[in-house]
Amino acid sequence: MKKLFLFVLVSVFNLGIYAQKFENIALTPPMGWSSWNYFGREITEGDVRAMADAMVETGLRDAGYEYINVDDTWQFDRDAEGNILADPERFPSGMKALADYVHSKGLKFGVYSCAGVKTCVGLPGSRGYEFQDARTYASWGVDFLKYDFCYADIDGQNSYASYKLMRDALYKAGKPIVFSLCEWGTTKPWTWAKEVGHLYRTTIDITDCAECLLVTGARGWLNILDESAPIWKHNGPGHWNDPDMLEVGNGGLTPLENKSHFTMWCMLSAPLILGNDLANMDADVLKLITNKDLLAIDQDPLGQSAYRYIEDEEIDVWIKQLEGDKWAIAVLNTSEDTKDFHIPWNIYYMTRVFQEKFNAVDKYKLYNVWDKKEWGTTDDELKGTLEGRDVLLFVLSPVK
Ligand code: GLA
Repeated sequence: MKKLFLFVLVSVFNLGIYAQKFENIALTPPMGWSSWNYFGREITEGDVRAMADAMVETGLRDAGYEYINVDDTWQFDRDAEGNILADPERFPSGMKALADYVHSKGLKFGVYSCAGVKTCVGLPGSRGYEFQDARTYASWGVDFLKYDFCYADIDGQNSYASYKLMRDALYKAGKPIVFSLCEWGTTKPWTWAKEVGHLYRTTIDITDCAECLLVTGARGWLNILDESAPIWKHNGPGHWNDPDMLEVGNGGLTPLENKSHFTMWCMLSAPLILGNDLANMDADVLKLITNKDLLAIDQDPLGQSAYRYIEDEEIDVWIKQLEGDKWAIAVLNTSEDTKDFHIPWNIYYMTRVFQEKFNAVDKYKLYNVWDKKEWGTTDDELKGTLEGRDVLLFVLSPVK
């Protein structure tokens, strides 16, 4: 009887029934850089090394950025045994050497693959090779895997089953890895992916504009922000809504749009995956993406996303709960024109959602993140003028 019990137990483990995602990683939104938004299909190992160097030299690593992720087009083919091979022209030293280089800089290394037979640019995907690829990534020391859904959607693959299969393969390979799902929000991953991955894309690709919709479906950060509002409750430590990589510093946004894009990603508790050329950055961009107050809002241990409690055609107001009875409030001018705003504190919708918590404290003092000064209390009305696409950001703390 005892033998039978043991046999059943061992079989259950071998079948992988207890497979799971790696726990206790990505407890705050992952921060790093990815090749796609700036380099696209042209990425080379030289560029990746240069970005790792720049991440250290600019102080980004010290500010908390840690992942250097190679997106699509590093792959080439499979060998006779089915092992995935890197492009010999653009990645001549191979992925293990690149991972070692990134690690030698005190950073972590990420790669990209796809649940379908091909990646989005048509190179070999992982379908049918999930366990083999997971073992390969583990042998290279990969710390982050972004897993796309091209061709999988065409072939009618089930998203939950496809991602769960790769999750199990990664777990079996035994090397802890952040698993980043990328099925573009099509099957509402925020409803099922908490047990599967650590972050999950919620929309079609971002592109380098504030508000636009391309024929490909790619859209601006303001469009994505709108789509993020209704799913704010689905964030938390170890499982993040991913509104896509940042376009800050890529040239298509004005300085104020860069500022608002980055601020709102921090309000959403979004993964902060930079998408610009780190070796050639404006001082203003570097200052913005290393702003300690902003990063603290993004990385707040509660892991809450912001709730949009005033939605106006021009001025939107978002509130985010922070650790220690604190709150962050962002006032965003979504229009291109200068606007006056006047916001009373006793807004019904805000008190309805956060009634008990927000009202448990009589009065808050406001700290203005931009000029690093106190800005009155919640006894005063919040009013002023905001330039087009500008954002105000306050941290509220209880007045004792
Ligand atoms: C998809 C993803 C993008 C990027 C490209 C690469 O479009 O959504 O983020 O990874 O594929 O081909």
